[in-house]
Amino acid sequence: MSDARQRLAPDRNLALELVRATEAAAMAAGRWMGRNRKNDGDAAAVDAMRLVLNSVEMDGVVVIGEGEKDEAPMLFNGEKIGTGNAPEVDIAVDPIDGTRLLAQGRPGSVSVIAIAPRGTMFNPGPMVYMNKWVVGPDAVGAIDVDAPVADNLRSIAKAKGKHVRDLLCVMLDRERHADMAAEVREVGARLRLIMDGDVAGGLLALLPERSVDVLLGIGGTPEGVTTACAAQALGGEMQGRLWARSADERAKAEAMGFDIDEPLTTNRLVSSQDTFFACTGITNGDLVDGVDYRPGSAITESLVMRGKSGTVRFVRARHNLNKVMEYSSIDFD
Ligand code: FBP
Repeated sequence: MSDARQRLAPDRNLALELVRATEAAAMAAGRWMGRNRKNDGDAAAVDAMRLVLNSVEMDGVVVIGEGEKDEAPMLFNGEKIGTGNAPEVDIAVDPIDGTRLLAQGRPGSVSVIAIAPRGTMFNPGPMVYMNKWVVGPDAVGAIDVDAPVADNLRSIAKAKGKHVRDLLCVMLDRERHADMAAEVREVGARLRLIMDGDVAGGLLALLPERSVDVLLGIGGTPEGVTTACAAQALGGEMQGRLWARSADERAKAEAMGFDIDEPLTTNRLVSSQDTFFACTGITNGDLVDGVDYRPGSAITESLVMRGKSGTVRFVRARHNLNKVMEYSSIDFD
């Protein structure tokens, strides 16, 4: 290795601190599994996440918050998070991706946080939805948001050395995807329709060791920027485009200066590879296990990653709730 390369002592991995916030949110929210009270679960996750995040040494601004879409409790856009000391960062929070999954006791809800250097995250403003294509490192360069679905799938299969019929595509189960789903079927690829949770769906596509090859379809813009942070950390690729529900929505966004037709690449969505990402399972899913409550304890499973090093960790933690509840202001009981 070249001597000219600058050698640095191991430095801080913020994601290892963020995971405490996603674990706390997951453990607080997991109590609401299957109770059909979406907003209570969300409030528990938001409060727990905010408390832990505020203890983290950083000067954070929430660029991607959750809530506007369904008037849920939120960590609001522009909210300052952390101790206020360096580093200056943008934060994307999704205390629960899959609030309906949690409320209905279905698999796949996760708690997510992503961080990137200040000013690097795309701000989707009033635009709620975007079209998304997400692939892992082994298919970088194979997707083009302007290309027909069949062409993209053939190109992904080629990059991966697979037959198109072997591909596994993931898509939100929505009416708006009827044509796209028909195109996937027509070309002969396999399709998994998910009820909610396209962050976890995107991660399954980004992780080469998982069987999903691509996430496609229209989902939330907050979830899109969050997924792009993971794509930067994992060396995968994301492409998309804002999607307006009506001519009125398009006109409003254009009046605010948004170019609705601009192709959104990974770098446009997050213009840095120095991202940190943590997510913890709330209900069991293909990506991570959900919270498992035992007498006096809870087990969590999380995915933790850092773009600078490219390290990906799966973290299983046993939380001693008896001890934690002696001093914690978060209610895990
Ligand atoms: P929430 O948990 O915030 O409701 O998001 C769930 C989700 O399925 C996201 O993963 C996805 O991006 C978005 O909703 C899709 O929106 P919609 O349900 O309106 O189609």
